[in-house]
Amino acid sequence: MKRALLTLTALALLATSAEARTWAEIKKSGTVKIATEGAFPPFNLLKGKQLTGFEVELAEAMAKGLGLKVEWTTQPFDNLLIGLNQNRYDFVIASHGINPERARAVDFSTPHYCTGGAIVAKPGGPLTAAALKGKRVGVQVGTTYLENVRKVPGVGEVKTYPTDTAAQAALMAGRVDAWVGDKFTGIDLVKAQKGKIRQGDLLFNERVAMAVKKGNASLLKELNAALARSQQNGTYAKISQKYFGQDVRCR
Ligand code: ARG
Repeated sequence: MKRALLTLTALALLATSAEARTWAEIKKSGTVKIATEGAFPPFNLLKGKQLTGFEVELAEAMAKGLGLKVEWTTQPFDNLLIGLNQNRYDFVIASHGINPERARAVDFSTPHYCTGGAIVAKPGGPLTAAALKGKRVGVQVGTTYLENVRKVPGVGEVKTYPTDTAAQAALMAGRVDAWVGDKFTGIDLVKAQKGKIRQGDLLFNERVAMAVKKGNASLLKELNAALARSQQNGTYAKISQKYFGQDVRCR
């Protein structure tokens, strides 16, 4: 927990003074460099050597529309924004909810989906914020789940895991009483576990966006335009249907 806080607070300081690649430079190179985690299904997942997921397909469709090839980098979730500020890639698409702390460190695009953080537990386990009183809750480190679970009055031990899937595994193994994660991930997990767990209340809602290095306005403008086009021409709806059976854009 301490580490996650320090990491974000240090982000501004860690930003290299060198400028990020502008839109003109990216366009000229013909390739956009994108980073994601690759461990957050169904949004971004590295399966063997193959990156898949809603965000991966959406970013690739957007890049195609912009006439660019994609060079992907995968990084642990809590390193992603640091690498962005070190100019290691042009933008990040990894399900970052927009919050004030992150917005001080990076610039966010218009949101590419809207969602919420949901409580998931075994039958008889806690399914509401009130029921989390005194309970052990597992979450991925560096996430808005951690931030929001810590605000629940009387919550018991909050255990952090390096990946979201490790936090889910902790719930299944009984090392925690509840897991808090994305509501769409939760729906898939409940299905896969066939009645062994259930999804409870949403703890919070969030708008999820892509991040560029602070001040990279030329790239941000193109990303926003590419996202808007994908939402107008049916590409977004098609990819969203494939992964969620519904359209997850913000309304
Ligand atoms: N939406 C949550 C947040 O903003 C979780 C994101 C986790 N993303 C990931 N690639 N593991 O913190």
